[in-house]
Amino acid sequence: MKKNVLGISTSPRRNGNSDLLIKKALSGAESVGANVEYLSLNDYKIGPCIECNSCYKTGRCVIKDDYEQVLEKILNADRLIFATPVFFMSVCAQAKLLIDRGQCLWAEKYILKRENTNSSRDYRAMVIATGGSKSKKQYECAKFVFKTYFDCLNIKYKYGLFVGKVDELGAIEKHSEALEEAYRLGSMIASPDSPLPENPIEVELIYV
Ligand SMILES: Cc1cc2nc3c(=O)[nH]c(=O)nc-3n(C[C@H](O)[C@H](O)[C@H](O)COP(=O)(O)O)c2cc1C
Repeated sequence: MKKNVLGISTSPRRNGNSDLLIKKALSGAESVGANVEYLSLNDYKIGPCIECNSCYKTGRCVIKDDYEQVLEKILNADRLIFATPVFFMSVCAQAKLLIDRGQCLWAEKYILKRENTNSSRDYRAMVIATGGSKSKKQYECAKFVFKTYFDCLNIKYKYGLFVGKVDELGAIEKHSEALEEAYRLGSMIASPDSPLPENPIEVELIYV
């Protein structure tokens, strides 16, 4: 069956490195027949979690902004691809705003103990991160943040593309290998009959 693939680009830079990679990954997904949707958080207004803890009683967020709209797209997809630049060794603020609002998902799962429909289906995620340095550690925090978020959604982190030493806007375009890997992993995550990998398939590239 055709997969519905949602790509969430979180970088403040349009056509930046992570943004171009996620677009490639979505092209890869399209090449195997998936329905793809690209979304840039720049087009949505999502405020920070205000820690009112209302969601502990309801599982819903009380803040009225574009969060519900994005959450609905996430819940309706079969595959999720997130792209972020590494900012101070973690995800960028735009990504973190969305993730922190996931506290209502955490409350639903761990306080209200409600079953999320994703737990019974094969919902996989991929993370793309680009960083300016060549440090191998620079993705660790971002990965951990995403994994914690995916746990609340009952989504399985199964694919990762991490590219270091890319800085200027569009620098990634010089690196055809990174773009090809994004395309390959995008087609892999969206392929209707690909077996669930036991361990995440991760690719790390550093352009020294
Ligand atoms: C606020 C800020 C913080 C950054 N922090 C890091 C960092 O901790 N480690 C790193 O390797 N690169 C860091 N960078 C560089 C970006 O990760 C890098 O330029 C990346 O390719 C940008 O991706 P984008 O074009 O998708 O936004 C930082 C850049 C900015 C603007």
